[in-house]
Amino acid sequence: MSTALLTLRVRALTWEAEGILGIELVPLQPNTLLPAFEAGAHIDLHLPGTGSATHPPDAGSGPHIRSYSLLNAPGERQRYCIAVNLDAASRGGSRWIHEQLRCGQTLTVGAPRNNFPLNEAAPLSVFFAGGIGITPILGMIRRLEAIGRPWRLHYATRSAIHAAYVSELQALSEAGQAGGRDGALDLHVDADRGRVLDIAGLIAALPAGTHVYCCGPLGMLGAFEAATAALPREQVHLEYFAAKEAAATDGSYVVELARSGRTVPVQPGRTLLESLEGAGVEVLYSCREGICGTCEVKVLAGTPDHRDLVLSEAERAANNRIMVCCSGAKTPKLVLDL
Ligand code: FES
Repeated sequence: MSTALLTLRVRALTWEAEGILGIELVPLQPNTLLPAFEAGAHIDLHLPGTGSATHPPDAGSGPHIRSYSLLNAPGERQRYCIAVNLDAASRGGSRWIHEQLRCGQTLTVGAPRNNFPLNEAAPLSVFFAGGIGITPILGMIRRLEAIGRPWRLHYATRSAIHAAYVSELQALSEAGQAGGRDGALDLHVDADRGRVLDIAGLIAALPAGTHVYCCGPLGMLGAFEAATAALPREQVHLEYFAAKEAAATDGSYVVELARSGRTVPVQPGRTLLESLEGAGVEVLYSCREGICGTCEVKVLAGTPDHRDLVLSEAERAANNRIMVCCSGAKTPKLVLDL
């Protein structure tokens, strides 16, 4: 995991749709190139004491980290573009950004990481996006257009005013169709159609070998997972913005911290991250729900009980990394590189 931190300036804030704020971040020095990123990557914003479920805004707590997908074209290294949806149940991150962030401010930003990579060689890529889930998919479509690969997009929103980046998507769609690359854009406004997107029907009609992607709310991801259950796993790609299930330990174990030699007990009902925090051990985190990868720590011994949605099957089987916010232990002891 890259731990490089960047200081970037907010160059522009744009109202992209109801409750969706676009943010353009640039280097402080002109003619400076940012670290490269691939389609599907995200960056972590380190926000000043914004508050969270466990650290209220006025508690004098330190920075909080929130992950946002990059939506500008991979290969563009002069800027990073993200979009932030104002979450009604915000723990501080999206609310602080919408209410406090101003053009010209600087932010500490983690270098890009990618938990949602694009397969650029697929014969056809079909995307299912819901709401703010359009952001990583917009970057993927920009990339496919840049390399001349075929794609289709089904973009579901509650109403027309909640649909972001529609003109960009329409331009990409026209370019794709003009180039004979499919490029079909299906903007599915639930309020207009009177029903939700028929993900199962659309997936059943796809040609063999199609790679399918989904990013959106839990209900959409659940429907997508059910509809793709019979497809080869390597053709199915999804990104969660919230955890599928609450994860907490149901048995006690101990964690040995290899760098200090300390031992931290993890009691039933407590997560590993909560136990480390309780012992005064500093660990980076963002979502606390197993979806962003920020809290990844190396495992030196013992077998983790993986509960996250970041690691692939092969990465889980390797048992050399753990997301401490949600995962536990299958062995009485874990030794971590902390
Ligand atoms: S903090 Fe996001 S995966 Fe652990």
